[in-house]
Amino acid sequence: MKILVMNGPNLNLLGEREPGVYGDTSLEEINSRLKAYAEKNGAEIDFYQSNHEGALIDALHNARGVYDSIIFNAGAYTHYSYAIRDAIAAIKLPVIEVHISNVHSREEFRHHSVISPVCKGTIAGFGEQSYFLALVYALGIKA
Ligand code: DQA
Repeated sequence: MKILVMNGPNLNLLGEREPGVYGDTSLEEINSRLKAYAEKNGAEIDFYQSNHEGALIDALHNARGVYDSIIFNAGAYTHYSYAIRDAIAAIKLPVIEVHISNVHSREEFRHHSVISPVCKGTIAGFGEQSYFLALVYALGIKA
């Protein structure tokens, strides 16, 4: 099993970016913990972060035929990128939408996700644990 974890704009700054909202753990640290957890459960895992919409779309396209599922925090693109939404719909891979913060308890513009309808499901509001909850699903682990 191969899983891709993707992060969009500004998530490279995790740990120093608004720690009251996003926590004080770096993306590198989160990724290394995700890697350990995935490998312990017999899966391969890769990571990709970009601040650029087109690069994220290319990564989604390139995931075809390589990965079984994608864990994706699209950052602010979540709320307005129809191009990313169309790319998710096009690739026919299960994409799990992840947010660190509870987007529904924040500004109004964060309440709507244009990618949710084409994702398998959404996990939001559990801090860095949101990624692990998504990984548990991707690994097919039963409670
Ligand atoms: C986010 C929430 C988005 O609204 C925001 O633009 C982000 C991070 C989250 O993980 O909580 O960049 O996706």
